[in-house]
Amino acid sequence: MNEKLKQLEQKIAEAQLGGGQKRIDAQHKKGKLTARERIHFLMDEGTFEEIGMLVQHRSSDFGLDKERYLGDGVVTGYGHVNGRLTYVFSQDFTVFGGSLSETHAEKICKIMDLAMQNGAPVIGLNDSGGARIQEGVVSLGGYADIFYRNVRSSGVIPQLSAIMGPCAGGAVYSPAMTDFILMVENTSYMFVTGPNVVKTVTHEEVTSEELGGAITHATKSGVTHFACANEVETINYLKQLLSYMPQNCEEDAPAQSYTSDNETRTELNDIIPANANQPYDIREIIEKVIDTDTFLEVHKLFAENIVVGFARLAGRSIGIVANQPAVLAGVLDINSSTKAARFVRFCDSFNIPLLVFEDVPGFLPGTDQEWNAIITNGAKLLYAFSEATVPRITVITRKAYGGAYDVMNSKHIGADMNYAWPSAEIAVMGAKGAAEIIFKNEISTAKDKEGKWKEKETEYQSMFANPYRAAERGFIDEVIKPEDTRSKLIRAFKMLENKVDQLPKKKHGNIPL
Ligand code: HXC
Repeated sequence: MNEKLKQLEQKIAEAQLGGGQKRIDAQHKKGKLTARERIHFLMDEGTFEEIGMLVQHRSSDFGLDKERYLGDGVVTGYGHVNGRLTYVFSQDFTVFGGSLSETHAEKICKIMDLAMQNGAPVIGLNDSGGARIQEGVVSLGGYADIFYRNVRSSGVIPQLSAIMGPCAGGAVYSPAMTDFILMVENTSYMFVTGPNVVKTVTHEEVTSEELGGAITHATKSGVTHFACANEVETINYLKQLLSYMPQNCEEDAPAQSYTSDNETRTELNDIIPANANQPYDIREIIEKVIDTDTFLEVHKLFAENIVVGFARLAGRSIGIVANQPAVLAGVLDINSSTKAARFVRFCDSFNIPLLVFEDVPGFLPGTDQEWNAIITNGAKLLYAFSEATVPRITVITRKAYGGAYDVMNSKHIGADMNYAWPSAEIAVMGAKGAAEIIFKNEISTAKDKEGKWKEKETEYQSMFANPYRAAERGFIDEVIKPEDTRSKLIRAFKMLENKVDQLPKKKHGNIPL
């Protein structure tokens, strides 16, 4: 018996060594953790249970039969994150560069299937050279098996991807179909074709970091939602993100205990500048309305003219979408529309109520926007809000102009409660442009054209640049003092706690992609 136990212990030790100490040292030298170290930081201590530790690949082509490693380049299993069941796979770069073989893929699929059957999130820690080249089409098939499960799981359980090394070729499409991507600066990259292929085909010279590093994807493409300074920071973000989410689409996100206090925030009364064209940072409003230090901003460096993220209000998890007047005056454009639409759909999938702060002068004009389909892309946000059945509340802090008024969670597209601050301006367009169009004749025939224009602008402004016209029609439920925003929102979200709303029976809608 002792011999058998010894044999098992040897196997466990062998599996834990992955591709060997030399390769582990090389991994550390690059500033990277190993697959097991990552899991150690992610999971609550002592909770991780490994599945498939002794799996080996089956291939014998290209001499592979002489090189087999227990676990076959991926550590898979389950454990607790913040005390809640979570499934994880962590690719081991020390074994064939973390490349994906048939068996490696089977291990990941097993975890994904268990996660679906048991209604718990899956976290993928990606560090891989892609399809295991020696295995050919079976490794491609393995990827497709994973992609298929990514799509089946979408909207059922949260799926999070951390990119902690290479992620290239078709391999990028599994993370791309998960809910959130996090990347580590300087040690991870994602691209469909690498710098060498780029050079051959387009003659562009570009480094891996420039082409598909964390900052590139956080700022230019928006592929990653978080660019993290190092792996430990990445893992902490994963844990934080999960804390705002339910385990699956049939549950609510966990609430934290909250004791009611003085909810008045007088500082909010002075945030909107006297000059309507002066910017301010919407984050100041967000921070003052929500529970202290609970804002987790998503996609912070991408399309900064809109701010999205998770927060807590009276202990409950909410999703926030807010125009950002400090960047491009908070205008809606292609990137901000797609960024916000995706976030809205995530929150709606997982029963997270939505809070919208609105200060938007309209959609961004120009050939660049029109030719790149602001029509289709702007429609995504309109579609996402209209489709959402979670409790939805809007607070208009200042401008709500044109089509953007409709799009930003207006009453007309199903918002439950719509508040406006006294500084709100709700109209078809800004007063200057409106006066120029509707008083064209009067202005052009006036002696003092500039003076007339100014006079008409003021007339339009006093008639429409306020929240009262909308409130008269019931499009705004209440005009509130800024200082009361927090207490109003707490009560309204509580009132909406048991909201039931269902979409008409359909297979699925056809969001304009
Ligand atoms: C088999 C691989 C491998 C792969 C790396 N290795 N990638 N083995 N299949 N795809 C092995 C290497 O042979 C090496 O083994 C070890 O992993 C570490 O690799 P290095 O090259 O020494 O590491 P590094 O210098 O850090 O470079 C990492 C790398 C490079 C940039 C990822 O290995 C690389 O370019 N690999 C090939 C990438 C690739 O083209 N993959 C296929 C993409 S197509 P030893 O024994 O020396 O330690 C694809 C299609 C997916 O993935 C389609 C889905 C639809």
